[in-house]
Amino acid sequence: MILEVSELKKHFRHRLIGGSILKALDGVDLSIGRGSTLGVLGPSGCGKTTLARTVTRLLRPTAGRIVFEGEDITLSTGRELREMGMGMQLVFQNPEASFDPRMRLERSLAAPLVFHQGLRPEEAARMVEEHLELVHLDPEVLGRYPHQLSGGQLQRAALARVLSLRPRLIVADEPTAMLDSLVQAQVLKLMKELQRRTGISYLFISHDEKVVDWMSHEVIEMKEGRIVNRREGECP
Ligand SMILES: Nc1ncnc2c1ncn2[C@@H]1O[C@H](COP(=O)(O)OP(=O)(O)OP(=O)(O)O)[C@@H](O)[C@H]1O
Ligand SMILES: [Mg+2]
Repeated sequence: MILEVSELKKHFRHRLIGGSILKALDGVDLSIGRGSTLGVLGPSGCGKTTLARTVTRLLRPTAGRIVFEGEDITLSTGRELREMGMGMQLVFQNPEASFDPRMRLERSLAAPLVFHQGLRPEEAARMVEEHLELVHLDPEVLGRYPHQLSGGQLQRAALARVLSLRPRLIVADEPTAMLDSLVQAQVLKLMKELQRRTGISYLFISHDEKVVDWMSHEVIEMKEGRIVNRREGECP
């Protein structure tokens, strides 16, 4: 297993409603095998994004345990996670969130390679072109700013950026919700193709049941912070 989560809880305290506690995650158990996709379904507010942000440790769990590649990361600090080389990356619904609007793509895509992997700028530039090829983007986009790309192009660029960090697990929180259906299909096919080629694992979140079934080996359904159903997906 690449990720094992047990009894995971994340509670938020409401400052306005008399300090009452909201149990956004209320005891979640799940595991993801190498090279496989776990799909997450559930209505708005059931805790999907909280799950994504807690397992990637953008949020600190209230209780429970998160083990990634055999390492307990439940309480690891940001620095410890970086030192481990954190092979888990998050892809957001909104690809703009992954880019600095004032930077050309070239710089945004090369920065993590230079800062996290210590590559020289010319090596980074070459790697960036390779990653763009992986996501079927023309290197011509490198000279552009984020707002000069379409939603689908930008989401593919976000995927290229995340892939350059060499993750073993990508947590994708509604990655195609903002895209029209044709572009959505392209991005999803691309994610599957990358999985076949690289053996990457996904935690794939969406409220679209068809999409989740198509993408996933196993599917969980959440409601009010709990898993209420588990079943097989359609991915062979
Ligand atoms: N930082 C926060 N502080 C307080 N409450 C929060 C916080 N983040 C999320 N919540 C609450 O936790 C619950 C779960 O939210 P979450 O964003 O995880 O839902 P979701 O399943 O991703 O919904 P959607 O499908 O609309 O994206 C909601 O009731 C939400 O209001
Ligand atoms: Mg959400």
